[in-house]
Amino acid sequence: MKVDIIIGKNLPSGLASKIDVIWKSHFQESWDSISPEWTRYKGLDNPEAYANDTFFIITDEERILAAGRLRPIELDFLETTYFILGVADIVAVEKGKGYGRALIEAVHARLIETEMTGVGFCRPSKSPFYEKMGFNIAKDLVERFVYKEFIGVGHSEDVLYVNGKDRFMEQVLAHPDEIVHIPVPNW
Ligand SMILES: CC(C)(COP(=O)(O)OP(=O)(O)OC[C@H]1O[C@@H](n2cnc3c(N)ncnc32)[C@H](O)[C@@H]1OP(=O)(O)O)[C@@H](O)C(=O)NCCC(=O)NCCS
Repeated sequence: MKVDIIIGKNLPSGLASKIDVIWKSHFQESWDSISPEWTRYKGLDNPEAYANDTFFIITDEERILAAGRLRPIELDFLETTYFILGVADIVAVEKGKGYGRALIEAVHARLIETEMTGVGFCRPSKSPFYEKMGFNIAKDLVERFVYKEFIGVGHSEDVLYVNGKDRFMEQVLAHPDEIVHIPVPNW
């Protein structure tokens, strides 16, 4: 197993197509349930949307075993601008074989190395996986993350995060009446 870490704009189109198939097979249904617009932005057939993302790809000799990405997001909260990384589209092609661990360990290591805050959303049934891999989980927080353009993330999701040196999540948790406006269509 090896990990490739590639910036979106350098992702070969053949590799992007393969990842697109994997992501759509896992997430298309939930994208559709949020909005058709969401699906339009999410497809890797819209490469501009992914140009600045960092892709993490776990492969063996022949095939992709797991893939996910970090998206740089600039957002304002309480009059401070933060540069955080959105954790997104974490998928192991086959479950229970350590592929998800290899992927999320690489993502987590990048967050620790860069000392940047990482934030993502996941179904509560997946939260123990992220917790095991060193992420913090916040229940009942997702309602405060509001996309400016679209309706929002799935409201039954948990927020997963790694604290960065900007202490963004500390601020979010300390101000329970404040909304976090997400200035991108999705992450
Ligand atoms: C979540 C996901 C990436 C986990 O990947 P995986 O390859 O099955 O996980 P691994 O085999 O690497 O497991 C690593 C550890 O996490 C544990 N784990 C995995 N999923 C878990 C879960 N849902 N609840 C509790 N523990 C879990 C494993 O038991 C293992 O623990 P161990 O190392 O102590 O034995 C995978 O289930 C997946 O792709 N799901 C579909 C897409 C998805 O929901 N992604 C998350 C988006 S929010």
